[in-house]
Amino acid sequence: MSDAVVVEGLVKRFGDFTALDGVSLTVAEGTVLGLLGPNGAGKTTVVRILSTLSAPDGGRAEVTGLDVVTQADRVRGVIGLTGQYAAVDEYLTGEENLEMVGRLHRLGKKEARTRAGQLLERFDLTDAARRPAKTYSGGMRRRLDIAASLIARPRVLFLDEPTTGLDPRSRLGMWEFIADLVSDGTTILLTTQYLEEADRLADRMVVIDRGKVIARGTADELKAQVGGERLELTVDSVKGLATAADLLRPLALDTPHRDEQTRRLTLPVTGGAATLAEALRLLEGSGVALLDVGLRRPDLDDVFLTLTGHAAEDAETPAEEPSR
Ligand SMILES: Nc1ncnc2c1ncn2[C@@H]1O[C@H](COP(=O)(O)OP(=O)(O)O)[C@@H](O)[C@H]1O
Ligand SMILES: [Mg+2]
Repeated sequence: MSDAVVVEGLVKRFGDFTALDGVSLTVAEGTVLGLLGPNGAGKTTVVRILSTLSAPDGGRAEVTGLDVVTQADRVRGVIGLTGQYAAVDEYLTGEENLEMVGRLHRLGKKEARTRAGQLLERFDLTDAARRPAKTYSGGMRRRLDIAASLIARPRVLFLDEPTTGLDPRSRLGMWEFIADLVSDGTTILLTTQYLEEADRLADRMVVIDRGKVIARGTADELKAQVGGERLELTVDSVKGLATAADLLRPLALDTPHRDEQTRRLTLPVTGGAATLAEALRLLEGSGVALLDVGLRRPDLDDVFLTLTGHAAEDAETPAEEPSR
């Protein structure tokens, strides 16, 4: 299997701020790579360089063997890009939007129309085809945006946070569309803040933080890397959460994670049932009311927490300008 995307030692600076500090990754043809990382990690910067919208300051990147700097024109002919923010013309109808993009890709008038019709159908937009895009829901716009990126049948597709802001049902629908594209042989590089999304769609993942790769592998490899088990308790009050965290600290292999909103405490542990029993003994007589307690294997959220020190979704709350 050959690589559809090759990135080697990519460097990008904005003034004296280094946004990418030697990022390397590959995406094998016909597979999905999940590019994960907290807000400001550099995900969009990688996508912009790969899609020829921004030039790197060091390193190199190739898409289907074409250099993104010296062969940018030809790269544009093989890729599709869906941005983090849907780029749809509000005043045109769904159909007109797709035809316009088709024309930009130098399709003939008739071909653009046929292709638009097929894509509207595939993305469940046929009924809304003749309505201006400004009347579309968030989910419909996102689907139209992805449809537009598929007009020219790209071999490689970059999806930058394709489901951010979608409700759970539209997200499930989008996952099905993405899975369909992959079964048609499209190579995909996907950035996401939803680890469940990466777990479900990506064959391999690369985790970046502050412009550097901090982990890579399949979901199972990443989970094995953080190791151990997770002891998880839900208590009835924020105060109980603090007490439980203190009392159970000796059992934790690493810093326990407290979520005040769900009043859930998560501790990396080993020792299985014996550790669970020990935890219950430590809490006895403490006055902490347990609503739920259990042991589980680490999931991708634990991987993220261990690697970056914060939960994926906390990290992605639209932030002020990151500190330089
Ligand atoms: N055009 C720009 N000018 C200055 N700084 C930028 C620019 N684009 C991105 N950055 C900075 O580079 C870092 C990485 O940004 P980005 O690639 O958008 O991260 P992500 O997509 O992972 O959230 C951030 O600190 C961001 O503020
Ligand atoms: Mg981004």
